[in-house]
Amino acid sequence: MQTSSTPLIVSKIACIGAGYVGGPTMTVIANKCHDIQVVIYDMNQHRIDEWNSDHLPIYEPGLEELVFERRGKNLHFTTDYAQVVDADIIFLSVNTPTKYYGVGKGRAADLKYIESCARQLRDTIKSGRKIIVEKSTVPIRTSIAVKRILESGDSQAQFDILSNPEFLAEGTAISDLNAPDRVLIGGESDYAIQALSSVYARWVPKENIITTNLWSSELSKLVANCMLAQRISSMNAISALCEKTGADVQQVSYAVGKDTRIGAKFLQASVGFGGSCFQKDILNLVYLAEHYNLPEVAKYFYGIIEINDYQRDRFAKKVIHKLFNTVSNKKICILGFAFKKNTSDTRESSTIYICKSLLEERAQICIYDPKVTENQMRYDLKSLMNDSYGGDFSAISETSPESELVSKNVKVFSDPYEAMADAHAILVLTEWDEFKTYDYQRVFDSMKKPANLFDGRNILDREQLEQIGFEVYQIGKQEKNLADW
Ligand code: NAD
Ligand code: UDX
Repeated sequence: MQTSSTPLIVSKIACIGAGYVGGPTMTVIANKCHDIQVVIYDMNQHRIDEWNSDHLPIYEPGLEELVFERRGKNLHFTTDYAQVVDADIIFLSVNTPTKYYGVGKGRAADLKYIESCARQLRDTIKSGRKIIVEKSTVPIRTSIAVKRILESGDSQAQFDILSNPEFLAEGTAISDLNAPDRVLIGGESDYAIQALSSVYARWVPKENIITTNLWSSELSKLVANCMLAQRISSMNAISALCEKTGADVQQVSYAVGKDTRIGAKFLQASVGFGGSCFQKDILNLVYLAEHYNLPEVAKYFYGIIEINDYQRDRFAKKVIHKLFNTVSNKKICILGFAFKKNTSDTRESSTIYICKSLLEERAQICIYDPKVTENQMRYDLKSLMNDSYGGDFSAISETSPESELVSKNVKVFSDPYEAMADAHAILVLTEWDEFKTYDYQRVFDSMKKPANLFDGRNILDREQLEQIGFEVYQIGKQEKNLADW
């Protein structure tokens, strides 16, 4: 038996939660460490079946090749919990969404999945020493709750808890995991920190593996997402000012980002940030600040979300205003439903919110996205229209007026040219590269006139579009007729 001073030679890793983080993270570990067996467990049979099929449940560049390379060798996807219990290191990579009920509703992270993992581990691991790693993003001090649950039964096992938050971004997950800016490990047990560090050290330079106490690690993840989102909200706020004054937000962002103290990344004005993390983690921080009676701190961070909501709303209003103050029964083509390019993920995508505003004005919405399924789009739109977004979808009636509006007024296309034909306006809401390559003369010829194009990502060549005859709006850029606005 190993004593606490004997370093652990890791031979098996398990991960609970086969989602956007668990799947890619474990796949990369399996590819870097052929001598370690890596098991990913999920309670969702359908999801596991997809991971074991030719069509993975998530789209992420480079992921498929890596899964196919190691699956069945040292990478396994399973619903068999017995595969988890004999692992040396067990990652918790389950979802921690914003609570949609009870105390902390709309703010706090819902930790019920984390808690159920801890209870299941306590009830199934009765002896030995296990390293439990919080990979999910959790509020500060969650590890105390996990530890208390693990130690609350009659188990003789010894549990070491580590916080190892994940910083990957979707769309670039594999390159982020292959070359992370840093790996953060928080914990109190040198034995556990050493064991986990030894896994990452196979491909991450030692100086990029940072160790802290548990609380700093848990909090740093929330702070990192707040700081990133704050930069986008700052530029989005400035984009509104640019449109009023004739400054160009891209020029401003370039000039400002050239300052090495500021840096160029995450300064692109847009229709508002989306994704499963930013809003959820900012709300989580706001809730923590409120909980610790720090209202000024809560208000400061909440402003990031207010600007994001404002930017989405401002964009939808601009469309309505530009279409002579009514979009009722007008065909509006939406290019892009994913929250960013190179992912099929739609969680908190600004597209959903903008579609809602337009549907409430009775627009006919025609959507094209290269990776998002029609089912997902309808699910998201019905959830938001019925005020149940992020909540309980089973409670939504298919026959509610809101659901019927989605059924009647939303069409989904697999051919972008068909989606754009006869439209009064095109809205570019995700920055997919293929949108830059379309034959816009052909698109213009097929549209109603005046042909409006609202570029919510500032990715298209405005001059060329205007030469063709489009009326173009871009975020944070001067209108042709400034007085109009
Ligand atoms: P996800 O919803 O894609 O996946 C979570 C998975 O956990 C689901 O498949 C679900 O079925 C499974 N699950 C939940 N409870 C379970 C249980 N008790 N037993 C077995 N399986 C269970 O979520 P995600 O996007 O992978 O995020 C996971 C965590 O990582 C969250 O805390 C999130 O904030 C954090 N995170 C996400 C990202 C991202 O870009 N998505 C990046 C960094 C961190
Ligand atoms: C984010 C964090 O970047 C990542 O580190 C963390 O682990 C999880 O949350 P993700 O949500 O996957 O990652 O994508 P990200 O690239 O951060 O984009 C989030 C949103 O911000 C997207 O809607 C994106 O389009 C938008 N964005 C990003 C901007 O509007 N402008 C920018 O300059 C950058």
